[in-house]
Amino acid sequence: MKLIRFANLPGDGIGPEVMSAALEVLEQTGKVYNFDCVTTSFDVGGVGIDKHGQALPNSTLDGCRAMDAILFGSVGGPKWENLTPKEQPERAALLPLRKEFELFANLRPGNLFPELCGLSPLRKDVVGGGIDVLCVRELTGGIYFGQPKKTTLLEDGQKEAIDTMIYRTGEIKRITEVAIKAASLRSKRICSVDKANVLETSVLWRQTVTEWTKKLDPSIELSHMYVDNAAMQLVRDPNQFDVILTENMFGDILSDELAVICGSLGMLASASLGTGSNSLDFPFGLYEPAGGTAPDIAGKGVANPCAQILSSALMLRYSFGLEDAAQAIENAVKDTIRSGLRTSDISMGGSAVTTSEMTSAILSRIV
Ligand code: IPM
Ligand code: MG
Repeated sequence: MKLIRFANLPGDGIGPEVMSAALEVLEQTGKVYNFDCVTTSFDVGGVGIDKHGQALPNSTLDGCRAMDAILFGSVGGPKWENLTPKEQPERAALLPLRKEFELFANLRPGNLFPELCGLSPLRKDVVGGGIDVLCVRELTGGIYFGQPKKTTLLEDGQKEAIDTMIYRTGEIKRITEVAIKAASLRSKRICSVDKANVLETSVLWRQTVTEWTKKLDPSIELSHMYVDNAAMQLVRDPNQFDVILTENMFGDILSDELAVICGSLGMLASASLGTGSNSLDFPFGLYEPAGGTAPDIAGKGVANPCAQILSSALMLRYSFGLEDAAQAIENAVKDTIRSGLRTSDISMGGSAVTTSEMTSAILSRIV
């Protein structure tokens, strides 16, 4: 029996409810696909601040180090909103986790099932057939982490703040390689997004992506787009893209745009893959839903568990090499939606089921 060892970090708001749904689904999937889950829960985010004085407590970090992957819930909420940006749960938990495990490759699939196309703010004639775009975002470089990053007091009494955008060829090559791998399982098309008409880092980005793609897989159809145009094209016709490859900050912005176009954050999963291998020789990774903590519905048992469940499928695929099991979960979610079941976030005013009803329906399809 294969052992699936991962840390689960439920976090705040709806995090714990949707996490327990995902753990149930993993447990059931293990029975069918022959694996056993070994998982420990650790505090992160607001609950970390409350209990340990830190959004990412040392005990959590140590716990994650001892495991093969991290299943992350979501963090933040009104209670911690008055902290300085640096101390806020989202930033103080996620950024150090990304840095610690060098989670450089962020995969954010933008999927919209045709059955849910009414949820998209885009017209039906544009997205009626659904959406299937993958955003590959560089996650540990660029302006997020470049030094210097500081605010100083000038002699004339003004303050001056500086962030630094840096990219090295090695960082660009490794994320290009991830995009190529992803694209070869899809339609072999990559659109690399940059701002090469203004930024030096983008000139290097474009050059390196071009050279490296040619070298690694010349059969990939590679195109380039400036980020302002990409933001526009994404709302005009999202399906013109297949794989979008971009740097950290552009990816932050475009992946949120992609998410809203897909209608519901409750349906979107993501994976952040590291440079390191886990004990099974797969990439160590962190898997999390795209949505937030939804404080308004937290504790009511009505949150949509799909994004967390789909994140656990990504974990099985990338960090444990269990493609069949991952697909089984994805198909179970798809079939459940197709059968008409909806949580309130995706019910468009129609009747809605609870978190546990949705979860049971998904569980019943994993056999
Ligand atoms: C995300 C978030 C984070 C980011 C914040 C919370 C630091 O917006 O994961 O996209 O900017 O990367
Ligand atoms: Mg973001």
